[in-house]
Order: sequence, then C-alpha cells, then structure tokens
Amino acid sequence: MIQLVVGSQWGDEGKGKMVDLLSQKADYAVRFHGGNNAGHTVVLNGKKHPFHLVPSGIFSKKAKAVIANGVIIDPQVLIAEMDNLEKEGVRLKNKLFISPRAHLIMPYHKALDEAYENARGKNKLGTTRRGIGPTYADKVSYNGIRVYELVNWPSFVEKFKFQAAIKNKILKLFRVEPIDINRELKIFHGYRQRLLPYVVDTFQLLQKAVDNKKNIVFEGAHGVMLDVDWSPYPYSTGSNITTGAVNTGSGVSNFAIDYVWAVVKAYLSRVGGGPLPTEIIDKNADYIREKGHEYGTTTGRPRRIGWLDLEMVKFTTRLISANRLAITRLDILTGLPKLKICIGYYLNGKKISQSECGYNEMAKLTPRYQTFSGWQEDISGATKLNQLPKNCKKYLRFIESFLKIPIKIISTGADRHDYIKA
Ligand code: IMP
Repeated sequence: MIQLVVGSQWGDEGKGKMVDLLSQKADYAVRFHGGNNAGHTVVLNGKKHPFHLVPSGIFSKKAKAVIANGVIIDPQVLIAEMDNLEKEGVRLKNKLFISPRAHLIMPYHKALDEAYENARGKNKLGTTRRGIGPTYADKVSYNGIRVYELVNWPSFVEKFKFQAAIKNKILKLFRVEPIDINRELKIFHGYRQRLLPYVVDTFQLLQKAVDNKKNIVFEGAHGVMLDVDWSPYPYSTGSNITTGAVNTGSGVSNFAIDYVWAVVKAYLSRVGGGPLPTEIIDKNADYIREKGHEYGTTTGRPRRIGWLDLEMVKFTTRLISANRLAITRLDILTGLPKLKICIGYYLNGKKISQSECGYNEMAKLTPRYQTFSGWQEDISGATKLNQLPKNCKKYLRFIESFLKIPIKIISTGADRHDYIKA
C-alpha cells in the first residue's frame, strides 16, 4: 500500500505524528520535497523529537527512511539529526538512504535568503532564512550542487569555487560578509565523509519497493497553501506540495498511490507574512496559541491563529486529490464557547473562490462563517468516537460533509497513542 500525507493548510498541521503513526506498518518512509524549513514533531512517551530533514517515520522499527531527490539538504542540519538519532540508539546503517540527485543548501544560499529578507524591509516575506528559495532557484537555473557532486569530490571543489565566487560578489552588493571558500571546503569535506555511506540510488530502491508491493509512506512537508505554484505567491515556499511532487521528487508514479491523506488542523495557524483571511486577533487566538503551543518548530516564532477555513481546504484537497482526512489538534479547541468555520468568501460584496485569489484579493476578503457551539469536556487522549461530546461530533460531521471526504483519523493529543480511528 502506498500512502501520501499532505498538509492541507499553511504547514504545522500535525503531519509528523500522522507519518509516525502510518509508518509503524510501513517498509519505507520517504521525504520527497522541501528542506529543513519543515519542522515535524514526533512525541514518544512524552519526549518531543523535532525533525527537519530525516523522515518522521525513522522511529518505526520496520521502516527504512528515504531522503529522495526532490529534497534539498543542509548537510549540517542533517548530520546533527543523524547524530541525535544515534545517541538515542537508532541505528542508521541500512536504515537511512539519501538520493545523489538531492540538491545541497550551501552557506551562500542561507546568506542570500537572509540578505534578501533584510533588503525587503517591511515587505519581508517571513521566510525561515534556511536558504530554501535561493537553493531551489539555483536548482532550476542549473547552478545547483548536489549530493552527486559530494560523491565526486574534485567536481564538488570546482563547482563550489565557481558558485561561491559569484555568490560572494552578490553578497558584497548586499554589504554582507562573503563566504570563506577554503574554510567551507574543509567543512564540506567532513560532511562528505559522514554522508557518503548513506548515498544510494533511491529511485531503484523505491521502484523495487513498489514492484514488491511494499508499504510506503510519503511525507509531505509544509502545507499546500505554501506551494510555489498554488500559494498566494510570493508568500510561498520553494517547492511543490502536491501529489504530483511525489513523482518528480522520488520517481514513484502518482498512479501507484492508494491513499492521499489530507491533514487538516481543527483551526488554522501560519508562520511568516502574507494574507490569512480567517485570522483571529482576539483572546480566542491567545487561548489557542498558548494551549496549542503554537510557536514555530523551526524558528520559534509565535504562529498566527485563524478559524478553520474550509473554502481553502476544499481547494487544497481537490488539488491533491485527497481521499482521506486526518483531523488534528481537536483537543486544543476544548473550552472555547463558540467556534467558527469559514465556508466561503466575499470580495466587494461578491462571492469569490480560493482559486481566484492572489495575495491582494486574499488580504481583502470577508470570510462567510458558520458558527458552532463549543464543548467543555476534556477530550485529550480520547481513543473512541463515543468519548467525544455531541458538539464536537457536530463540528467533525460538518467538515466531512462539506469536503465530501471521509475522516479516518482524529488526533486528540500529541502522543502517538492519542487518536481515534474513525
Ligand atoms: P521558506 O520556505 O523558508 O522560504 O519560507 C517561506 C514561507 O513558508 C514562510 O512564510 C515560512 O514561514 C513558511 N514555511 C516554510 N516551511 C514551513 C513549514 O514547514 N511550516 C510552516 N510554515 C512553513
């Protein structure tokens, strides 16, 4: 069985937990796009394990973890995660596999991301400053350096020197400290020694897995509303976050996928700039932010909070052909007297759909809401549907009937065991 897990909103929907859960029975857990701008948290026996590059399925005893070609890798971050995992007793040999086609995030990419953001001043996009945009830009302009080059060291040295010399000129225009080429070469040689044992042709590995009917879980990063094509650009990330990205980012055909899980957080959150039509600025937002610890896993920034926007989720679930829903963080809404769900938008008094909106329109939308009564009963850790209060079930039924996609998992807490199979 092949399953794909995608965030249907702005990221931070709780995908890490879903992937960890599904990976218990998986033979392969695969990251196929994005970089360490992603922050996926797995909570095991009360201990938090944040991942940025290593697939969240790494804790599955059975699953092999694959970083496929569509991922962009900051070697420093990847190695730190690998070191931590080994300290925790996870053996990575024959467990972790890295594609030689994956592009590397270089020090000048991070410096450029930072420099562009600072230059934008009050119009900054709010990137994670991890070098994501500049790395993908270099990839499509044939200026990227891949894991493949790390394997062939003389080729790496040649390409790195050429690129770094050009990037240093650009950094100078921004009045930013240039990259110390010789120092970085030494550092990257160390990275090479550490990473090389894990580099394999992940295309063949995954093709064989598909042929042998293995269980594969593809782990989408971020959320569809940040997709480089389908977001309110330029409030985007650098990769595609659609079902199609599985094919380009791993070589596995979309037609091989059985289940596309849309992970839907029971409310909204967003880090970074850009429009958020259902944003809540009042005490309800503070309540949700504090109760839900809504602070960025990658940057620690407080997340913006909003009501669940089903006009948006209808758009994103269609885009990814979702056929299953996982509702997360439902327990966080306990205690709020009233809840709202956005069921459409108005712009200048006329109805408008999500797909018609660029960032200018999105900033001016008036959301059309349906209001629901809240529930006061503590549902954290609930494992059966009948443990959910009536109002909570009403909220869930509305989501299901609006999107016309069945809810299969309801997450009721951070731990692996806190969920209801619906
Ligand atoms: P970048 O991906 O670092 O270039 O950042 C672009 C936008 O995407 C910013 O608003 C980030 O906060 C946002 N972003 C990127 N990755 C994630 C994620 O995994 N969760 C939430 N927001 C993200």
